[in-house]
Amino acid sequence: MHSIALQELGINAVYLPFLISEDQLPHLLDAFYLTRVQGFNITLPFKEKIIPFLDTLSEEAKMLQSVNTVKKTEEGWKGYNTDGSGFIRSLAANDISVTGKKVLIIGAGGAAKSIAISIAMVGASEIIILNRSRDKADVLAAMISQISSSTPVSTSTPRAHKIDITINATSVGMKDDSSPLSDDLIKRSEQIIDIIYNPAQTTLLKQAAALSIPRMNGLDMLLYQGVEAFEIWTDRKAPVELMRKSLMASVYPC
Ligand code: ATR
Repeated sequence: MHSIALQELGINAVYLPFLISEDQLPHLLDAFYLTRVQGFNITLPFKEKIIPFLDTLSEEAKMLQSVNTVKKTEEGWKGYNTDGSGFIRSLAANDISVTGKKVLIIGAGGAAKSIAISIAMVGASEIIILNRSRDKADVLAAMISQISSSTPVSTSTPRAHKIDITINATSVGMKDDSSPLSDDLIKRSEQIIDIIYNPAQTTLLKQAAALSIPRMNGLDMLLYQGVEAFEIWTDRKAPVELMRKSLMASVYPC
């Protein structure tokens, strides 16, 4: 999606994948700095490990202690995190707002963390975090309370009836047809979001469809974290629809 967007805007650049090992990380950064590389994405398992080699961090990256986008600046390499902002933008693109909403997040890993924090920042009225390992949910809840003291956060199954938005931020449903949510919690949700994009229809989304609950998969989150990264690197508006088409063609080849 990046190379086609660069081409569309007439920018003489390409986006290339590099497979690296941890010991190569500082050398690669030096090599990139000496060449005309303007920026790059960094993914698992180096989102935290790259931080000591960067010169500055955006507020979001600092808060999350996790970086997925790096840009060459006059002050050196600057690290950003577009996962949370990309998630919020993907919601907006689908006419979903979390402001004033009661949000249930399943999971407490890296993805759940960026989602939970960004949701707190845009003013969710309440956040509930459920995770297989309860201690990790408690750590994330404490972090959110520190960042956004006005957002009530809990880590046990909610008793009240309605949940405005339920988000699966675990990998459950990616490799098999398991579902991370009980039927009861699915039925009580007004909107279900699965951050998994492959398969496009997880068991959770099929359960939501059977109950006619509005739902969305994770493709737009993937798209918009890329859109935000593209805009950071180029200081230009990204050709979103072209990027979406390109992404869909590679994620869902016929
Ligand atoms: P990511 O950075 O992609 O979020 P992660 O940090 O490994 O990946 O987090 C994966 C999340 O999925 C965690 O919340 C994990 O729960 P635990 O903290 O208990 O490990 C959750 N997860 C993964 N497999 C699961 C399963 N089979 N059942 C329930 N939760 C699962």
